[in-house]
Order: sequence, then structure tokens, then C-alpha cells
Amino acid sequence: ETISWSPAMAEKAGYTHFMQKEIFEQPRAIIDTLAGRIKSGSPEVFLPDIGLEDEVFKSFDRVVMLACGTSYHAGLIGKFLFEGLARIPVEVDLGSEFRYRDPLVGPKDLVVAISQSGETADTLAALKEATSKGATALAICNVVGSSLTREASGTLYTHAGLEIGVASTKAFTTQLVALYLLALHMGRLRGNVSDEKGIELVDDLIKLPGLLQEVLDKEEEIKKIAEDYCQADDFLYLGRGLCYPIALEGALKLKEISYIHAEGYPAGEMKHGPIALIDEKMPVVVLANNTDVFEKVLSNMQEVSARGGKLIALTEEDNSAALALADSAVMIPAAPQTLAPVLLTIPLQLLAYHISVLRGTDVDQPRNLAKSVTVE
Ligand code: G6P
Repeated sequence: ETISWSPAMAEKAGYTHFMQKEIFEQPRAIIDTLAGRIKSGSPEVFLPDIGLEDEVFKSFDRVVMLACGTSYHAGLIGKFLFEGLARIPVEVDLGSEFRYRDPLVGPKDLVVAISQSGETADTLAALKEATSKGATALAICNVVGSSLTREASGTLYTHAGLEIGVASTKAFTTQLVALYLLALHMGRLRGNVSDEKGIELVDDLIKLPGLLQEVLDKEEEIKKIAEDYCQADDFLYLGRGLCYPIALEGALKLKEISYIHAEGYPAGEMKHGPIALIDEKMPVVVLANNTDVFEKVLSNMQEVSARGGKLIALTEEDNSAALALADSAVMIPAAPQTLAPVLLTIPLQLLAYHISVLRGTDVDQPRNLAKSVTVE
């Protein structure tokens, strides 16, 4: 009898793919990203690594986020966090768009370049373009000593650990946490976040890894949904506000690894186009958690349902209105609105993962894609 063991299996620690292992590492990755930066009962955020004096960090007129791929989706969420907590205007752009258009950027701007690898050519070039025009650059990065970190004046490292799967998972959720820390820090320095509010936000962050674990424990349920829908040719993902970038990210995960055509859309724009695609063959994943705009999301769900579309809802247990309309549902634990996007990301990663496994595609190394795109 032969021993079915290989070094690669040992590296996967009992998981079938690196992506699955990395999905399950997220509570740990977030704990590591928070470690030493916040403590329970204190509103303060300790970020000595960003290399900017408090006086400087709070005095910018604008924040410009630059990134590509999944990291760009983190930037879109970062806009909500900075605008909400620090009340500073934020622009978010793709490295490949920003670098070629003679952008309006200057000394009053803080540029936040977000990259797992720190080697993405377009993000690096965009950052250089911004600093050459006098902007201050900060990197959010997962790889110590990478090119991006050498170009920026400071780096807030995500401590996700090595990410091997081409489709980014734990790097993304730790980027969201890093952005939350930065936004909270700036919000406090600019006098927009009181001590009381700060303590509450810090405590929310501390609870996040535990809540994430609760969502991971639903893997079997999500696998069942994957079995029901894995034959579909197209998927639509809908979300509003902070959940719109999560819809984009969910669709990206699915196309990257399963090769199913998927579109993320702001739910409010459905009537301007995608509604024409909906029929009984079209699964529509809706981010239907409790938010200020839930009623609007609910009416989008009704529109899908009226046209025979199949609704897969991500919502909380007590949301009977969403559950009544959904063909399939995944329940996430109740969480503050600003942190729910992190929780909602998990079922979308697992859905893409299991659909890909069922379709027999190469999960960890999808065709035509590279982990890090170091050319134009
Ligand atoms: C590639 C990867 C994506 C990643 C993007 C940006 O396209 O396949 O997973 O999101 O690059 O990478 P970065 O390292 O800059 O975050």
C-alpha cells in the first residue's frame, strides 16, 4: 500500500485547495491585522508604521485610493469608511486608469495605494505619478519589502500571511480591516469620532473574527446552494451602498475561478439595464442585510422575483421580508452596518469556491490569470 501524502498536501493543512485554506484562515488573519493596533476599552488606534505625524495625517484635503482587481474593491469600501468616519472626500481609481490621464492630484492629497503583492505594475505606476505631483503616499500591502512599500512614505501591513490562491480572499478582508483602522484613526484626529464612539467601533472590530467564524461554519449550507446553481451560465450580484463593492467582488470571484459570466451591479441601477437579462435561468445573488437602504433592496428583490429570477439572499436570521422572497438564503450574524461587508464576503467566496470545484476548474490557478500582474 502506498502512502497518499505529498508535501503540497501538507502545505494545504488538510484542505483540498489553497483557496479553501485561505478562506478559513480569515479569522486568524484579521486577529493578526488588528494585533497591537487597538485594544478593548480604548478608542485609540496605534499605527506608528504609517510614518506620518498625527498633525500631517489629519490635515489632507482629500484621499485618493489606487488599486487593481480585488484590491480596487477594497478601495471602494474604503471610500465609505473614510467619508463616514473622517468626513474627508475620497476618490477611488484603478491604477491603469489613473496613470494615463494626467490626473489632478497634488500636495494636499493623501494617496492610499492598496495591493496584496505590492508588485502590481499599474498600481505602482499610479502611485509614482501621484507622488511626482507632490502627493503623500501610503501603502496598504501584504508583502513585506515589496516595491510598493519602498515607493510609499509609509505602509500599513495587512498580516494575512502568504496568499497562494490566485483569487484573493484573506488579503481582501484584511485590507478592509486595515482601511477601517486608518479611517477610524483619521476620524479621531479630525474630531469626527468621539471617545465613546471610538470605543464602540474598536469593540466591534474585536468581535469580527468570532462573527466570521460563525459564517465559515455554514460551509455545508453554501455548498448545497453551489450544487443547486452550478450549471447556470450567468449570475447577477446586487448590492447597495457598502454592499455594492461586495457584489462586484462576489462576481469577480465567480468569474475568476469558475469561468461563469457574472456581473456585480448596484441594485438601484438594475432597472437601467440588467433587468432585461432576468429570466428563470438567472440566479441573482442579493446582499440583503439590514441596512438603511434595505427597503430599496427589497423592492429590487421583488422585481427579480416577479420576472422569475432565482434569488439567493444573504441576510440576517430576523429578516423575514428577505427570507420570504428568497429561493435560497445564507444567514449572517447581526453586525454593525460598516462591518457587515466583511461577513458578507465569506459566503460569496465559498459559493465561488464550491461552484468551481463542482465544475472541475483549476481553483488555485485559473486559466489566463496571474497572482500578481507585474506588466502593463
Ligand atoms: C491579479 C490577481 C488578483 C488581484 C490583482 C491585484 O489580477 O489575480 O487577485 O486582486 O492582481 O493584485 P494586488 O497584488 O495588487 O492586490
